[in-house]
Amino acid sequence: MARSGVRIVFSALPSGTAGKFESELARRGLHVFTNASDHRLDPSVPLLIPEVNGDHLELLRHRTTTGVIVANPNCTATGLALGLAPLVDLLAPRSVYVATYQALSGAGLSGLASVATSDNVLPLIAGEEEKVERETARLLGHRRGGQLRPWPPPIVSHCARVGVRDGHLEAVTVVAGRRPRVEAIARAWKAFDPLHRLRLPTAPHPPVVLRSEPDRPQPRLDRWAGAPATARGMAAVVGRVRWNAPHLRFFVLTHNGVRGAAGGSVLNAEYFLARQGLVAEGGGDSRAG
Ligand SMILES: NC(=O)c1ccc[n+]([C@@H]2O[C@H](COP(=O)([O-])OP(=O)(O)OC[C@H]3O[C@@H](n4cnc5c(N)ncnc54)[C@H](OP(=O)(O)O)[C@@H]3O)[C@@H](O)[C@H]2O)c1
Repeated sequence: MARSGVRIVFSALPSGTAGKFESELARRGLHVFTNASDHRLDPSVPLLIPEVNGDHLELLRHRTTTGVIVANPNCTATGLALGLAPLVDLLAPRSVYVATYQALSGAGLSGLASVATSDNVLPLIAGEEEKVERETARLLGHRRGGQLRPWPPPIVSHCARVGVRDGHLEAVTVVAGRRPRVEAIARAWKAFDPLHRLRLPTAPHPPVVLRSEPDRPQPRLDRWAGAPATARGMAAVVGRVRWNAPHLRFFVLTHNGVRGAAGGSVLNAEYFLARQGLVAEGGGDSRAG
């Protein structure tokens, strides 16, 4: 396939099916950007949200294939990591609790048909809580050379499916180790824009939108957040912020099918291409996006 001139492949096959095709394509020299979970925890595969852990691209230096595999995280972990990333240094969290209200489209085509969605909430999404906890810890983890140390604070989740078409809403409680003023917390979210110098078409500016209205974010109103127009659906929307130290409570919403899936893969590819020179040079040890 590399002979055809194709360099980049996007994979959205079901997990379980995707892994072996993706490995084969990378072996043949293609660069694979995947939504599937099969390779998410491989030591030499970056689980990537460019604004959160862009430096994890360095893990690619330890791959054994010519092509790369870069994975985007579970759609729920994506929103949680985007909401938390601007606060990590400021709050020094001791633990994080999250309860989710996840859209029907997150179940995929076959899953959707099997879900009793009307007048109902399903308190089980098989395997989701494990993914949210494990992948968020990896996303916020510290890289030193080729080694990744997961973020230490415990992350405790409850995941539920609700009768919403698109957009995962998450109720987050952070138990903070520090006590900044609430204005400093708002500033940290508003100032967060690690990709502002790279002109990536699908990167939203800012990546986290802070809403001050008492009843936001809402899936119907906020799932398409993200500017410029090429980045619609790529921003996380944070709101209902309550700070009663040591507990910070807020809601975060992301479009599971855009930022949490295909859009996340496209942004990863854009970021990879923009940073390819850096990956070739390598070295260093940083958290910077
Ligand atoms: N939906 C989300 O919010 C979301 C978010 C993050 C990540 N993901 C991940 O993204 C991937 C796709 O999710 P989805 O929701 O789009 O799933 P989906 O609705 O079930 O669609 C899966 C697609 O893969 C095709 N397919 C299945 N087996 C195949 C094979 N052997 N060869 C070629 N095509 C095959 C199916 O085609 P047929 O219909 O013809 O079988 C279908 O078009 C999954 O790995 C999922 O875990 C989804």
